[in-house]
Amino acid sequence: MAKFIKVAKKSEIAEQSAKCIEVEDKRIALFNLGGEFYAIDDTCTHRGGPLSEGTIEGEEVECPWHGAHFNIKSGTVTNPPAPTDVTKYNVRLTGDDIEIEV
Ligand code: FES
Repeated sequence: MAKFIKVAKKSEIAEQSAKCIEVEDKRIALFNLGGEFYAIDDTCTHRGGPLSEGTIEGEEVECPWHGAHFNIKSGTVTNPPAPTDVTKYNVRLTGDDIEIEV
């Protein structure tokens, strides 16, 4: 059953940056876009590049390995070579804590 798990403090992730967190055997990229937080799988669906280390452009992140783009809010792939979307996770804030539904 899905549950929210505390994964970080808001202050740990600067605006327009990301952090990889490991929770429930998943690697998840947690993004701060203008003070709003979003979570998608960290592992690119092409060859497994770490999306938390990619370049953020607006609402998209570019995979650092071969340049696929994903929408950070939805996980949708928007540019090849990645073949499929990544999973998106619900995020909620409790005070200064960031929680992800896994
Ligand atoms: S591993 Fe991400 S584009 Fe190739």
